[in-house]
Amino acid sequence: MCGIVAYIGPKDATPFLLEGLARLEYRGYDSAGVAVTGRSGGIKLRKVKGRVADLAADVPARFKGTTGIGHTRWATHGVPSDANAHPHLDNADRIAVVHNGIIENADELRAKLTAEGVVFRSETDTEVLAHLIAAHVTEGGELEDAVRAALGRVVGTYGIAVLDAEQPDRIVVARNGSPIVLGIGEKEMFVASDVSALVRYTRQVVHLEDGELATVRADGFRTFTADARTTHRQPSTVDWDIDSFDTAGYEHFLLKEIHEQPGSVERTLSGRLDERFATAHLGGLNLDARELREIRRVKILGCGSAYYAGEMGAQLIEELARIPAHSEPASEFRYRNPVIEADTLYVAVSQSGETYDTLAAVQEIKRKGGRVLGVVNTVGSAIARECDGGIYLHAGPEVSVASTKAFTSTVVAFALLALHFGRIHDLSPADGRRIVSALQALPDQIREVLDQSEAIAELAAEYAESAGMMFIGRVRGYPVAREGAQKLKEISYVHAEAYPASELKHGPLALISPELPTVALVPDDELLDKNLTTLGEIKARSGRVIAVAHRRPEEKLVDHCILVPKSEPELDPLLLNIPLQLLAYHAAVALGRDVDKPRNLAKSVTVE
Ligand code: AGP
Repeated sequence: MCGIVAYIGPKDATPFLLEGLARLEYRGYDSAGVAVTGRSGGIKLRKVKGRVADLAADVPARFKGTTGIGHTRWATHGVPSDANAHPHLDNADRIAVVHNGIIENADELRAKLTAEGVVFRSETDTEVLAHLIAAHVTEGGELEDAVRAALGRVVGTYGIAVLDAEQPDRIVVARNGSPIVLGIGEKEMFVASDVSALVRYTRQVVHLEDGELATVRADGFRTFTADARTTHRQPSTVDWDIDSFDTAGYEHFLLKEIHEQPGSVERTLSGRLDERFATAHLGGLNLDARELREIRRVKILGCGSAYYAGEMGAQLIEELARIPAHSEPASEFRYRNPVIEADTLYVAVSQSGETYDTLAAVQEIKRKGGRVLGVVNTVGSAIARECDGGIYLHAGPEVSVASTKAFTSTVVAFALLALHFGRIHDLSPADGRRIVSALQALPDQIREVLDQSEAIAELAAEYAESAGMMFIGRVRGYPVAREGAQKLKEISYVHAEAYPASELKHGPLALISPELPTVALVPDDELLDKNLTTLGEIKARSGRVIAVAHRRPEEKLVDHCILVPKSEPELDPLLLNIPLQLLAYHAAVALGRDVDKPRNLAKSVTVE
C-alpha cells in the first residue's frame, strides 16, 4: 500500500526521503515521488511510475531542500503513471501533498474546483487535496489552518503530509484512518506512515490519533484537533531491531523471516509461561479471572492469514478452554450488521495493526459496546490502540508481504490465551503442564523442520510447474491447509485450493488427476486412519500426494513425505505449517517470482 515519508531539519531532505521510500517498498507500490523546498523557495518535484531506484536515478544532484515529502503509490484512482504518482501540486506550484487513503467525495470536489477554474493534472483523488488546501491559504495565514479547513470539506480516509513553498519551515500532517508517525530527532524531525522508514534515524516516535493533525518543525511539533484544540502526545520508544530491516545474508526477507521463527516464537512465549501453576500469564488482557469466566463465546476477526491463524486459535480455545470459538474474516463481519453480545469476547488479529477492514470491525464492535482484545505484532499500531487490551506478538518486524513468523507467533499467542482460559475453567493441571512443555519445545522443533529446507526446495522445484495444487487437512489440519494454499498462491501465483479432507468426496475429488497434486496434512492423531483412507482415494484416481506427517504413510499412499516432529495434538498445526511455508517459498523461487513483493499485493491493506 501507499507509503509516506517526510523530513525537516538542517540537512538535505532528499537522501532520507529516498532511503525512507526504499524501506517502505515492501508494502507494495507502483510509483514513487519526492518534493522538496527550502529557503531558496519554490518546490522541486520528481515522480515516476516504477521503482524507488528509478526515482533515485531521475533525481538530479541539484535536487536539494531542507524540507521534503515523499510517497510510494499503490494505484486506486487512476492507472500507475508519472502524472498520477504523488506528490501532487496545486496550480500555483506552491502546495505539495502526499496522501494515503481514499477521498470518497473526490469526484464532487473535483467538479466544484474545475468549475472554479482549477486545472487537474492527474486522475487521482489526492490532487483534490492540493487544490483545496491552496484554495484555503490566505495571505499571511498559517498552513495548518488551510489544511484544517480543506479537510473539513473532505469525506474519506487519509494520512497526509503537506508542504508549502511559502512556509518552508514546517510540514503539516494529518491522520484519519491511515497511519502517520512522527519521529523525533536532534534538531530534525521525520514523518512516515510506518516506523520502518525512520527507525534508522530515531527510536522516539509519536503515533497520531485519528482526527489529529500536527505542525512539524525542525525543532519539534505541535499536535491539534480539527477544531484547533491542542492535544498533548508523549513520545514512545520503538524497540525494534534495526537489523530486522536487512536480509542478513538471506536471499529474501521471506526466507529470513521463516528462519527467524525459533527466535520469534521464543519472544512470544517469553515471560508468559508459568510451570508451577501450568498456565500462562498475559498481562495486557485487562480482564481479571472473574471477567474471563463470564465469557461464553469467543469471536476472532482478521483478514487473510490473520483469519486463518484465528481459525487455529478458535480450535485451541475450544479444545483447551471448552468455550465456543469461531474465526471470521473481519472484511465480511464489518458489513453484515453483526449482533454484538456482552458475554462474547472479540479478538482482532493483525500483524501490521493497520488493516483497515480489521480496524473497522473493531470500531463497529466498540460502538455497540463489545469488548475487543488485539493479537497484534506492531506496537502502538491503530488496531492495538483501539482495542481494550491484548497480546503483543513480539515477533519483530515482518517485511516480506507474505506472513510467516507473525502467523506462527499469532497461533502461539492463541495457545497462551487458550491455556490461560482453560486453567481458569476446567483444564486439569496435568493437561496444563502438557501444553506448557509442548510450547517450550516448539523453538527446537521448528529448527528441525527448517533443517529440511534443501530437501523441500527439491520437492518444490519438481512440483512448481503444476497447473494447481490441492491442500487438504481434517479438523486441526484444515486451517493449516488453508494457510498453506494461501502462501503458495500469493507468492508463486500457482493456483491452490484448500479443502477439508472430509469434503473431498463431496465434489473436489472430480479434480484429482496427475496434473493436480495434493498436499495432505497427516498428523499422527485420532484422525490418522481417516486421513490415510483419503490418501488411498486420491491415489486410486492417479493423484500425486505430498504428505506432511509425523510418520511416513505406506509407500503406496504417497509420492513424497515431509516429516515433522510431533507436538501435543492441539499444537501440531503450528509445526505442520512450517514445511508449507518452505514449499511455497521454494516454488516461488523456482518460478522466478518477486518473492518479497508479489504482484498486486501490499503488506498492509490500509484501504477498504
Ligand atoms: C499474508 O501472507 C497476507 N499477506 C495477508 O493475507 C495478510 O495476512 C492480511 O492482509 C492481514 O494483514 P495483517 O495481519 O497485517 O492485518
